[in-house]
Amino acid sequence: MGAAADGALVRCVDVARTYGSGAAALVAVHAVSCEIAPRDSIALTGPSGCGKSTLLHLLAGLEPPTVGTVSWPVAGHSPWGRPAEVGVVFQGPSLLPHLDVVDNVAFPLVLDGVPAEEARERALGGLDRLGLTALARALPDTLSGGQSQRVAIARVLVARPALVLADEPTGQLDQATGALVIDVLLDAVADVGAAVVVTTHDPRVAARLTRTWRMSEGTLHDDARAATGRTPAAGSSRLVEGVR
Ligand SMILES: Nc1ncnc2c1ncn2[C@@H]1O[C@H](COP(=O)(O)OP(=O)(O)O)[C@@H](O)[C@H]1O
Ligand SMILES: [Mg+2]
Repeated sequence: MGAAADGALVRCVDVARTYGSGAAALVAVHAVSCEIAPRDSIALTGPSGCGKSTLLHLLAGLEPPTVGTVSWPVAGHSPWGRPAEVGVVFQGPSLLPHLDVVDNVAFPLVLDGVPAEEARERALGGLDRLGLTALARALPDTLSGGQSQRVAIARVLVARPALVLADEPTGQLDQATGALVIDVLLDAVADVGAAVVVTTHDPRVAARLTRTWRMSEGTLHDDARAATGRTPAAGSSRLVEGVR
């Protein structure tokens, strides 16, 4: 159906990201070409320092590539330059400490131009869907780590993203809490029909997603294709050949 060519949510072509310059230059991401299609479910795995967060930030438009291009053919751009419809869940605390939970969830909508009352209604609806209504008036520093991550997920989902990028969203949680947060994330993503990429070095988390992209030393490998020797069907995520 050609969706990978025409309907990619994000496409990287020959992307590299280098930090610093000269002798001190560090190549965090190297020669990466990939696409994410609607409703893809991808675990981005690899050891600490292999470039997972850097690639996620490139996919999110949070930082520019040093070489190559990152584009969002479907999503376009939000008023402040980030791709619209791409939501990010970070590993650590990301809630604004002076705003209560409902205002934290509503805040990005307000920034995006949604009228305050409507933003608040949508925030309350999102909290309700994630079972967080009782926490609506709580301040972030009264929440547990798992509750904070669920609020961060609600905040991303109320913006109705087409793609959710989660950077080790359970990395600071114990295993049981982490499993619950992954459940919440994947249910919510399925609910809104979004694609999802989760970076993790936990195989139990990776097993919950449909595909695995493995990184080592800044380069990207696609385990599913390595296993079958075939390129995934059109419409699913893929790495693009021909880059060394
Ligand atoms: N802002 C930065 N400045 C300098 N080096 C960085 C920066 N961000 C990441 N790096 C380096 O890039 C490499 C990849 O880091 P990262 O993408 O965070 O890996 P991962 O998320 O897989 O642990 C590491 O060597 C890291 O030290
Ligand atoms: Mg990281």
